[in-house]
Amino acid sequence: MNITIIGSGYVGLVTGVCLSDAGHKVICLDKDEIKIDNLSNGRVPIFEPGLDALVKKNIEAKNLIFSSDLESSLGKSKVIFIAVGTPTSLDGDNADLSQIYSCAKDIANNLQDGSTIIIKSTIPVGTCDKVEEIISLKNPNKTFDVVSNPEFLREGSAIIDFENPDRIVAGTSNHQSIELIKTIYKRQIENKCPLVLTSRKSSELIKYASNSMLAMRIIFINEIADLCEKVGANVEDIANGIGLDNRIGPHFLNAGPGFGGSCFPKDARALIESGEEYKAPQNLLKAVIEGNERRKLNLSDRIINILGENKKVGILGVTFKANTDDMREAPSLSIIPKLLDNDINVSIYDPEANQHEIKEFHGAKWREDPYSVAKNADCLIILTEWNEFKELDLKKIKDIMANPIIVDFRNIFSLEEMKDLNFEYHSVGRNIVNTK
Ligand SMILES: NC(=O)c1ccc[n+]([C@@H]2O[C@H](COP(=O)([O-])OP(=O)(O)OC[C@H]3O[C@@H](n4cnc5c(N)ncnc54)[C@H](O)[C@@H]3O)[C@@H](O)[C@H]2O)c1
Repeated sequence: MNITIIGSGYVGLVTGVCLSDAGHKVICLDKDEIKIDNLSNGRVPIFEPGLDALVKKNIEAKNLIFSSDLESSLGKSKVIFIAVGTPTSLDGDNADLSQIYSCAKDIANNLQDGSTIIIKSTIPVGTCDKVEEIISLKNPNKTFDVVSNPEFLREGSAIIDFENPDRIVAGTSNHQSIELIKTIYKRQIENKCPLVLTSRKSSELIKYASNSMLAMRIIFINEIADLCEKVGANVEDIANGIGLDNRIGPHFLNAGPGFGGSCFPKDARALIESGEEYKAPQNLLKAVIEGNERRKLNLSDRIINILGENKKVGILGVTFKANTDDMREAPSLSIIPKLLDNDINVSIYDPEANQHEIKEFHGAKWREDPYSVAKNADCLIILTEWNEFKELDLKKIKDIMANPIIVDFRNIFSLEEMKDLNFEYHSVGRNIVNTK
C-alpha cells in the first residue's frame, strides 16, 4: 500500500518507519526541509531507541522516502496520515489546531478521488468533522473519508508500543475505511491487539480521556506521597498495596516530580477546554493541572530548604522522563530556573538533552558525565530516572561531593543503600535517611 504521512516528528516518523517495515511504501513528509534532508541521509533528529537502525533499513529496502513535496506525494497515495503537532495555544489552554487545518487545506488542493485521511494527531472532539468540512468546501467534487486514529505510543519505547499496542482505536462509520484500518494494522491485529471501532467523536475523546486519567493517577499518588512524608509512611508500599487491587492495577503509581512531556499537560488542558466549550466542566482535571503546577514550585522550595547556606547543586537528568530527548514541559524547566534565580550554582548532566536548544537554564554549567556534576557539589538532585544513574558508583560520588546529600525525585535508590553509604537522602513519599 502507498502511504503518505504528513508530519515527521515523534509520532509521524515512528508511524512511517514501522509501516514501511511492515512492507508498505511510505513517504514521510515534513515542512521542515532540514529535517527531511537529514532523514533522507539516515540522520534521525530525535533520540528514540531502535529508530536509527529501522530508518536506515527501510531507506535501503526502498520502502521509505522523505520529502517536502506534498503535491507529488499525494499524487502517489490515497492513504494519508496526519501526524502534525497540536500544542497548547499561545493565548489560552485550548489546542492550537493551525497545523491540522493547514494540512487539511493542503490536502484539499491535491486530493485523489477515494482517499482516506487518517488523523493520528491528538485532536479535540469534533475536529475530524471540521477537517472534513474544510476539504469538502475547497474540493466539493472529490469523495474521501476522514478517520480518527489516535496514537498511544510512549516516547522511549515508541517502536515497541507501535508494534504491540494495548489497543488500536479507529473512529469512522465508513466500511471501506474500517477494512483499510484492518489492513494497515494487520500485524498488530494478528497479534491479538484489540481493535476498538467507534464513532469519530468517541475516538477523539478516548485519547484525551486516557491521557487525562494517567495524569490524574500521577497527581493522586504524589499527594499521597506528601501525606506519607508527614506521617512517616512509605508511598511505595502504598502504591504496591493499592496496585494489587485488580480494579486499580499497578501502573502510573510512581510518586515523583509531577508530569511533563508533550502530551499529558497539553491534553489535560485541552480536555478542560472542551468541557468548557460544551458546558460539561472537567473539575477533577482542573485540580490535576493545578496540583501539578504547585508541585513543581514546591520541589524547588524543598531543594532550597535542604541546601540551607550551601549553594552548589548538581542536577542529574533534565528530560521529562528517561529514554527520550524531549524537554517539552519537563519539570526541570520549572525547577532549575527557580534555583538559578536564588543564586544557586547549578551544574547539569543529561545523557540526551540538547543543551543548545534549552534557553531556560542560562547560567547553569553543562557537564559531560554524572561524576563531573557531583564533584564538589553540596547536593545532587535526581530529576530523571535514566538507567545510567541507577548504576552510579555511589562510593565514588560520596567521596567527590562537598556534602553527601542526595535529593532523589524519582526514588531510584533504596533507603537501606543510602543509609549504609551514609548519604543524607531525601526522596519522594519516604522517610529522610541520615538527616542531621
Ligand atoms: N510525542 C508523543 O509521545 C505523542 C504520543 C501520542 C500522540 N501524540 C500526538 O501526535 C501529534 C504529533 O506529536 P509529535 O510529538 O510527533 O509532534 P512533533 O512536534 O514532534 O512533530 C510534528 C511535525 O509536524 C511537522 N509539520 C507541522 N505542520 C506541517 C505541515 N503542514 N506539513 C508537513 N509537516 C508539518 C513539524 O515540522 C514537525 O516535524 C500531536 O498531536 C501529539 O499530541 C504525541
